[in-house]
Amino acid sequence: MFILSIKIMTTLSIVILAAGKGTRMHSDLPKVLQPLSNKPIIHYVYETANSLNPNEIAMVVGHKMELIKASINDEKIKWVTQKEQLGTGHAVLQAEPYINADTTLILYGDVPLVDKNDLKKLVDKANDSISIMTFVKEDPTGYGRIKRVANKIVGIVEEKDCDANDKKITEINTGIMAVNTHRLKQWLAKISNNNKQKEYYLTDIVKFASEDGLEISSHTVDIESAVLGVNSKKELAFLERQLQLKKAEELMEHGVTIVDPARIDIRGHLQCGKDVTIDVGCIFEGKIILGNNVHLKPYSYFKDCEIKNDSVIESFSHIDSSIIGESNKIGPYARLRPGAKLGKEVHIGNYVEIKNTFVDDRSKINHLSYIGDAEVGKDVNIGAGCITCNYDGAAKHKTIIGDDVFLGSDCQMIAPIKIGKGATIGAGSTLTEDVPSNELTLSRSEQKTIQGWKRPSKK
Ligand code: UD1
Ligand code: CA
Repeated sequence: MFILSIKIMTTLSIVILAAGKGTRMHSDLPKVLQPLSNKPIIHYVYETANSLNPNEIAMVVGHKMELIKASINDEKIKWVTQKEQLGTGHAVLQAEPYINADTTLILYGDVPLVDKNDLKKLVDKANDSISIMTFVKEDPTGYGRIKRVANKIVGIVEEKDCDANDKKITEINTGIMAVNTHRLKQWLAKISNNNKQKEYYLTDIVKFASEDGLEISSHTVDIESAVLGVNSKKELAFLERQLQLKKAEELMEHGVTIVDPARIDIRGHLQCGKDVTIDVGCIFEGKIILGNNVHLKPYSYFKDCEIKNDSVIESFSHIDSSIIGESNKIGPYARLRPGAKLGKEVHIGNYVEIKNTFVDDRSKINHLSYIGDAEVGKDVNIGAGCITCNYDGAAKHKTIIGDDVFLGSDCQMIAPIKIGKGATIGAGSTLTEDVPSNELTLSRSEQKTIQGWKRPSKK
């Protein structure tokens, strides 16, 4: 005999409250568009909401709503305008026509690090009533307090409406709750603004549920950053560090050596192979892939790049949209601009800028050079201070340097130009024409000495 246990799936609507102004940010950019790890706060909330597969997401916006709409621009979102911010109850009421699923989850647009699993638990507990996400805060000042009688929740008291006893309650309302949609609609109609702030409090629905004899559940979260709303730059910086620490810990769990997890910034996605070491002050943006045994020395910037096995990046290097091959040695103070692609065992030294250039295996460009729009062959040695003059003021031109070329110091290659395989170029040459293979080529005015010349002296 089969025993089937069927859990009937409840459907979900999500309302995200994001109409607030965020005065304490002192910024022209709306609060929910402030970047956390290079991504607007509201995107975190939206992505988490979406991951719960809701029937619909209603986004309540007011202040600078056009900017918020433009930043997300997803057809799935029902945009709801709240012209005046008359309170959280009023905000949810505006979204009422768009919520039709069994359960409605209310999220705040300014709480970016809310955890998907916490939300699932919260939604599961709502049933035909309410479940509230709570947090126990040592200093609960400013927050709505969870009022319990014989351990049962009977209401939420806002800070301004608290009496001396209420003020002592440390269990606070995070603002995030899941509510039976049918009941929510009935309760929303009953909310008044009869309180100290003359606001329509969403929290009043808790009192109504209790009066209706319903049991109100809670889910208490124990990580503050997972419930913290961002109201100021200070809170934004706190969340940024928390988020970074979490990313660093994930990498360390997979075996990456992070010299100081408090001094790393991953503002995107960082993928690491085995035995990678990342020293302090490295910043990662976009998508970065590091192979096995890659060693990043202190204070470098990486954006959308790949660094293959056994390569070392010395300090203060700047690497953007580039591919670095195996066993390279880059920097210190190297700059790889978009389109730099390096083969195996390539050395790029200090004050060298490479742009849109392929450098083949074992070639070395060790000091003070600019190589742009070029192809550099294998085993090439480019001396100090060499420059590809790739730009004529209107168009960019290409420089092709064959295998085994030796360029003396301080050469200029006026592109378009080709330097044949095995050519040797004397130091200080300005090359304007193609260079033949396997010969010594140089352009240099003759050295002369003026006998008996006297240096002027001061009178
Ligand atoms: C609210 C809760 C309080 C809780 C606190 C947690 C109420 C009455 N109080 O406080 O119990 O401890 O959050 O931070 O719900 N918003 C709108 N329209 C409005 C008002 C607010 O969209 O008219 C949005 C804000 O943009 C924000 C969220 O709702 O995302 C919360 O608003 P906020 O003013 O920060 O919360 P409080 O009312 O102070
Ligand atoms: Ca308020």
